[in-house]
Amino acid sequence: MNIILLGPPGAGKGTQARILVEGRNMVQLSTGDMLREARTSGTEMGKIVADVMDRGDLVTDEIVIGLIREKLAGGDAGGGFIFDGFPRTLAQADALGALLDDLGQTLDAVIEMRVDDDVLVGRITARSTCGACGEVYNDQTKPIPADGKCSNCGGTEFKRRADDNEDSLRTRLMAYYKQTSPLIGYYYAKGALTSVDGLGEIDDVAAAVAKALD
Ligand code: AP5
Ligand code: MG
Repeated sequence: MNIILLGPPGAGKGTQARILVEGRNMVQLSTGDMLREARTSGTEMGKIVADVMDRGDLVTDEIVIGLIREKLAGGDAGGGFIFDGFPRTLAQADALGALLDDLGQTLDAVIEMRVDDDVLVGRITARSTCGACGEVYNDQTKPIPADGKCSNCGGTEFKRRADDNEDSLRTRLMAYYKQTSPLIGYYYAKGALTSVDGLGEIDDVAAAVAKALD
């Protein structure tokens, strides 16, 4: 089963993707994570994307489609792919359809995670992730354990993202509404869309996602 998690910055896409990886042996393909990896690699592409990401704008379709093409061609699909933060434009959505067709694969569900804009600033500015395994924490709703060790891997270094500030978030939200939200109608028209309430507790959202998939 191949699925897309669709939603604005802070909707909980990464959090829910990790739960699906754990529970269903699915493979998370986060273009945000791939781009953050590229920017630390010191490559030419990394330098180009760093500025764009820090501002909160979208990286070009060509770059992200290239990253996804590489992963689909080389990767083991396990229990299926979770596209987290991809596609984000209509051109990316068309490209994903074509890539899956070429592989003889289908897109089985698109889960739209609905949240109110006013909770997003709070979620984003309180987020940190484990530097070793990427487990996602939140100062308010999912704090780092009191012993300072990641509950998933025991790691002790935690990172905050350069684009997790109010200015970049405003640009990221605008990019979502202008460029990504048309995908809700696109996938609705294809009969693939299910919307879940992303405002509940993490476990409740996970249960709603599971219900949508089963
Ligand atoms: P990306 O990394 O995809 O960021 P994003 O879409 O802005 O989304 P986030 O990762 O910020 O949020 P999330 O929905 O994953 O939420 P999370 O689970 O972490 O993209 C970053 C940048 O890369 C883009 O701006 C762009 O420049 C570039 N990019 C990436 N993909 C691209 C593409 N396809 N095309 C072009 N450019 C691209 O949760 C957030 C916080 O909330 C955490 O602290 C978490 O603990 C907490 N939380 C989660 N769920 C709940 C809950 N139910 N209740 C309470 N708290 C919760
Ligand atoms: Mg994410």
